[in-house]
Amino acid sequence: MSDLFKPSRRAFLRGGAAVAAGSVAGAANAAGPDPLITELQDWESYLGAGVDETPYGLPIRFEQDVVRRNVEWLTASPISSINFTPIHALEGTITPQGCAFERHHSGAIELAKDDFRLMINGLVDKPLVFSYEDIERFPRENHVYFCECAANTGMEWAGAQLNGVQFTHGMIHNMEYTGVPLRTLLAEAGADMSLDKWVYVEGADASSNGRSIPMEKALDDVLVAFKANGEALRMEHGYPVRLVVPGWEGNMWVKWIRRIEVVDRAVESREETSKYTDVYEDGTARKWTWVMDAKSVITSPSPQMPIKHGAGPLVISGLAWSGHGQITRVDVSRNGGITWETARLGKQGDTKALTRFYLDVDWDGAPMLLQARAMDETGYVQPTKDQLREQRGENAVYHNNCIQTWYVNAEGVAENVEVS
Ligand code: MTE
Ligand code: CO
Repeated sequence: MSDLFKPSRRAFLRGGAAVAAGSVAGAANAAGPDPLITELQDWESYLGAGVDETPYGLPIRFEQDVVRRNVEWLTASPISSINFTPIHALEGTITPQGCAFERHHSGAIELAKDDFRLMINGLVDKPLVFSYEDIERFPRENHVYFCECAANTGMEWAGAQLNGVQFTHGMIHNMEYTGVPLRTLLAEAGADMSLDKWVYVEGADASSNGRSIPMEKALDDVLVAFKANGEALRMEHGYPVRLVVPGWEGNMWVKWIRRIEVVDRAVESREETSKYTDVYEDGTARKWTWVMDAKSVITSPSPQMPIKHGAGPLVISGLAWSGHGQITRVDVSRNGGITWETARLGKQGDTKALTRFYLDVDWDGAPMLLQARAMDETGYVQPTKDQLREQRGENAVYHNNCIQTWYVNAEGVAENVEVS
């Protein structure tokens, strides 16, 4: 079989290189014969791996740098900590679970489906306890949503800090969730669904990560999800069942959910008072900052993705998202915000999901100050860093959705900088 295929595959490769020569001349067209084209290669001479060797595939070893990373000095312990999605190295919009950032307050727990119980109690006609199988018997839906930790970009308030988009913007992932609308389960329990009521949601881990959600949101698009990207949730993302709260800060996406209590006012738990609240200069707090405002960032080029090919055709690629709905437009500046060009969207953005954008340019090889600026369906425009500091002051930690700047020098090396 494989012998039969070889000649045609090589012919195809040669054809491909010839087509490319006209526009993007690269290494493959350097002077002299290319041994990759003219010589028999190792991998054409041995038999490859059998189908019994990899029951569940991992990325090939050449991609071993495309992994989550953490920043050791950020937290006292890796148990209550965060790691970051390698968004610089991903394309399209879907985040594979295996490299999607994790945030735990007391570590990721191992909870079997058989041990899973979800209680709905409080202001309900009949308090209920659901098993995992029970959840799977309700009509389900599929939706792609981004999940962004409120602390994403939080280290950048005081100045350019971390040299990599993975670290400045990698507390985000975007998956296709399968789940049951929360409203369905609330109806099953005969919950009081008046709009002045709230639900208080708890996880089964030691931290419990309890959060209050107003009834209006609970009845809108919140999912009780049990699959992500077509497969079971990974342990670290809340296996077997987590809450998906589209467009709202990641902390509300309670993992390993065990209890939903219908209550007549917000519980004001630790997670929604001392944490995940932004304090202004004068000490007052911005309360209930649930929705993640529109934001965008260029993922390549970026500090971890320098330009290696020199002047000429260059693909500028990035991500945009809004907790208020669809991204309608993204602009890119190559001169630090003096002039803007409208980027091309990879595809029409989904609501409350990552949208990929591109600006395909002919780079003249001169240094650039690269920025992206997102707009969403509400007409909101992503602010500059100075505009955001003016509004929020210097105490802020959470909800930093400002415009990011990368300085790209003539060698193509990129650096995290600020312009004012
Ligand atoms: N749920 C529980 N039970 N325990 C937690 O520590 N962390 C929250 C949220 N849900 C947390 C939790 C925070 S702060 C975020 S940003 C998201 O989960 C992160 O989800 P992920 O780990 O799947 O990326
Ligand atoms: Co978080």
